[in-house]
Amino acid sequence: MDLGLQGKVAVIMGGTSGVGLKTAEMFLQEGAKVAICGRNESRMQQAYEELLKIGSSESIFASTCDVINKEDVNEFINSTAKKFGGIDILVNAAGQSVMGYFFDVTDEQWEQQIQLKYFAIIYAIRGAYPHLKNRGGGRIININATLSKEPERHMVATAATRAGLMNLSKTLSQELAPDNILVNSVSLGVIRTDQWERRRLKNAPELSAEEYYEDLAKKRNIPLGRVGEPEEVSAAILFLASKQASYISGTTIETAGALGKAL
Ligand SMILES: NC(=O)c1ccc[n+]([C@@H]2O[C@H](COP(=O)([O-])OP(=O)(O)OC[C@H]3O[C@@H](n4cnc5c(N)ncnc54)[C@H](OP(=O)(O)O)[C@@H]3O)[C@@H](O)[C@H]2O)c1
Repeated sequence: MDLGLQGKVAVIMGGTSGVGLKTAEMFLQEGAKVAICGRNESRMQQAYEELLKIGSSESIFASTCDVINKEDVNEFINSTAKKFGGIDILVNAAGQSVMGYFFDVTDEQWEQQIQLKYFAIIYAIRGAYPHLKNRGGGRIININATLSKEPERHMVATAATRAGLMNLSKTLSQELAPDNILVNSVSLGVIRTDQWERRRLKNAPELSAEEYYEDLAKKRNIPLGRVGEPEEVSAAILFLASKQASYISGTTIETAGALGKAL
């Protein structure tokens, strides 16, 4: 199926690993141009090398950028628009979660989650908006988590801020509709990315990856009986960016293997 992404420009905030990197690969495979960023220089270089296997220096832009730094974000977005002549799609995928119950989470951790789940998104959307508008419309896809609707006590700061981001996405879908900018979310359950690999190596280095993820799926009672893969999330992101999704805005696609009971 032709997704109509040939020649489109997709900016992926946090595209040097996990879901963001896989999404960049899949956009390139569809003939789009991609910009990725992250804080870590060597991870960024490694991701760039990976993407060069699919695209070229003409279709890829990679730069370091901290998404909670307004100047960084504006520079990254404006440099992308300059290199490719505009922007059509913004994917907000940067981030990490904080584990901890209410009385364990520090002010600094709350602050970090608020910065990542609100200000990073606010800066990126403010920065991308004039470019999307110039193209006569575009797509914004915010990565979220099932936690936004079904909080888990051991991830209180992430769950609470995720809920706010869900609310913000809905408001923006209405505010930006007159500009033909469609705003949607993809809500993740447990997806096998570097985020989980770091936890595996820290908490259960004795288990093989297969054993660890099988165990995790059981512990989390994931109805499909397994954790998800990044490409299963990226497929939903590409669909929301596609010409086929032209009348979809203000909604969320869950990629969570039927995890959770919230309607
Ligand atoms: N995997 C899951 O099960 C799961 C579940 C629910 C939600 N999510 C969310 O999905 C998104 C993608 O996560 P992932 O699992 O793909 O994780 P990942 O493999 O750790 O990738 C995270 C990406 O975000 C970048 N990043 C993090 N903080 C950043 C910052 N301040 N500025 C710029 N870039 C930043 C990282 O690069 P640097 O570290 O180099 O900056 C990396 O490119 C995150 O928002 C995560 O919270 C994931």
